[in-house]
This record gives sequence, C-alpha cells and structure tokens, in this order.
Amino acid sequence: MSQEGTRHPVPGAGAAVLVTGAAGVIGSVVVPYLAGAGERVVAVDRSPFSSPKAELVLVGDIRDRGFVEESLRPFGRPVDAVVHLAAIAAPGQVPEDETLAQNIQGAYLVLDGAGRAGVRRAVAASSIAAYGYAWAGRDLSPPYVPVDEEQASVVIDSYGLSKTVTEQVGAFVTRRWGMPTTLLRFPFVGDGDRLSSRLAEVHRDVAGSRRELWAWLDTRDAARAVHAALTSELPGHHVFNIAAPDTTADVPTTDLLARFHPGTAVRRPLGAFDSLLDTSAARRLLGFETSHAWRRGAD
Ligand SMILES: NC(=O)c1ccc[n+]([C@@H]2O[C@H](COP(=O)([O-])OP(=O)(O)OC[C@H]3O[C@@H](n4cnc5c(N)ncnc54)[C@H](O)[C@@H]3O)[C@@H](O)[C@H]2O)c1
Repeated sequence: MSQEGTRHPVPGAGAAVLVTGAAGVIGSVVVPYLAGAGERVVAVDRSPFSSPKAELVLVGDIRDRGFVEESLRPFGRPVDAVVHLAAIAAPGQVPEDETLAQNIQGAYLVLDGAGRAGVRRAVAASSIAAYGYAWAGRDLSPPYVPVDEEQASVVIDSYGLSKTVTEQVGAFVTRRWGMPTTLLRFPFVGDGDRLSSRLAEVHRDVAGSRRELWAWLDTRDAARAVHAALTSELPGHHVFNIAAPDTTADVPTTDLLARFHPGTAVRRPLGAFDSLLDTSAARRLLGFETSHAWRRGAD
C-alpha cells in the first residue's frame, strides 16, 4: 500500500516534531523517546498534562483549526514532522457517531494542515481495528493468516471505520501535498500493569481476545516504530502492521485458529506462539523489529 510523495525525509536529531495525543498511553511514551533521540518535541493534548521532556507543551483541541495551525508553527516556522496519535482510542467512550466524527475531523485538520504548512513527514496511529474484526460486535474471521496489509477491510463498527478513513486521509494528504505519510496499524498496546492485566485476562479467558487475534505490542516498541517511521526515507503513503512476533496467549496459535477461526486459510507454517499479523513489510521497509517480549525466553 504505497503512493508517491515528493518531500524530503525528516533530518535526524534536532528536528521539531509535533506530537498530538501526547498525554495518552502511547503519546506519553513517544514524547520522551523522541526527545531522547534528540528531537525537539512539541507535545499537544486537550487534557492538561505535564511532559518534562517536551520542549513545548500546548493544551488544546485538535478539532480547533486555529489551534492546529498555531501548533504546527510553534517556533515561527512549520515543524519538521508530525506524529498524530490523538483520537478516541476505543469504542464505547463516546457515542459512535462522535467517535467517527472526532477521529476523522482530527486526522483531517492535523494531517491536511501539516501538508498545507509544508511539514516534511507525518506518522499517524491507525489500528488493526481497520481490518474490521477487533470491534465487530459479532465474530468475523480473516480469510487468511498471517493478516497482511493487503487484506480488505470488512469493518462494521464506527471506531474501525474512523481508522480506515484516517488511513485514507493520510493517502489523500500525500497525493494533495506530496508529504509522505506513514500509518501504523497497532494492536493492543501496553506495558507494565496495563500489559500484565491484559495478559492475565487472556490467560483466564482466551476466547475473549479472539476478535483482536491475540495481537499485542509493547508501548516502548510503539515509540520505536514511530521513530523508525519518522526517520525513514520512504517516499509516499504507507500502511504497516506493527506488532509483536508472538501472541498474548498461552495456547499454541494453530490451536487458537482451529478453535476460533476454523475457516481461515493458513498461508505459511506458524511457529508455536506466532502472531497472526504479518509484520514483514515494516521489517523490510522501515527496518523495524520489536525488542520487548512478555514470554520467558522470547527475548
Ligand atoms: N493503546 C492501544 O491499545 C491502541 C491500539 C491501536 C491503536 N491505537 C491508536 O493509537 C493512538 C493513541 O492511542 P492511546 O492508547 O495513546 O490513546 P489514549 O486515549 O490513551 O490517548 C489519546 C490522547 O488523545 C487525546 N485527544 C483525544 N482527542 C483529542 C482532541 N480532539 N484534541 C486533543 N487531544 C485529543 C486524549 O486526551 C488522550 O490523551 C490512537 O489513535 C488510537 O486509536 C491505540
């Protein structure tokens, strides 16, 4: 999934990077990671927050066009890059039409505004929800595994729809302004207590994670993936699965498939606890591999 874009990549250390959703689960780890890599981070969120590693903290709503325009030029010139994470990050937090409206309007104002302002590169959070299985409200199975980025969306929930449209906004912005955009399809993201409670939940009831395909990613690896996408020299628009190479389950992957997705075709032999997501495109084009594991012996 790629289209040509014409702008140059972000330079390394010292680039000004606007991060939206900076107070969130992923943003609060991305900001210090990018700052640690030498970027000058402008951290934006609508919830008041502190972010000691950011050069600048701006509190406001990305659905406010004027606020976005100001945030994109915090030092009197456009930032070099944008990392767009702000969103209603799961269904059920607000009515579903609000999830759709907020996520699409936010993505449009931030990404289109970045292209218009002359920002050189944007990275944004998508989700495996874009495939349609995770929040479907009824059991849907992938036609084949490992699920790659070419698999068609069968989305029937508004959060998943908002993520497919966010990806389309990225493609649109690359066509319109020539700004490279990279959309990262994250599964469940967590570390520490958040990850521990997810693992305990899956180990108590493996069926409960069937729609999310037992996929996961350590938050620190999400930050590393954002940095890899930001500093890559890839032109155009790209969508990547970003996930750990294994599942959250303590049941072998082929057993999970036999029990919960018996009609799914298996395209290549799967190792004992292999992920059902294909992450080879990110490995090949971004040079990205995860470095955090929960399973003993998987490091
Ligand atoms: N955490 C996950 O498991 C996961 C999985 C897949 C995809 N994602 C995606 O990654 C991104 C970040 O997720 P997260 O887990 O950090 O979510 P989060 O809810 O912890 O953080 C999102 C942040 O965005 C901010 N925000 C929301 N709307 C805003 C607006 N209109 N203006 C300004 N700020 C706004 C919120 O205040 C919040 O701090 C989201 O796009 C989400 O859809 C997350």
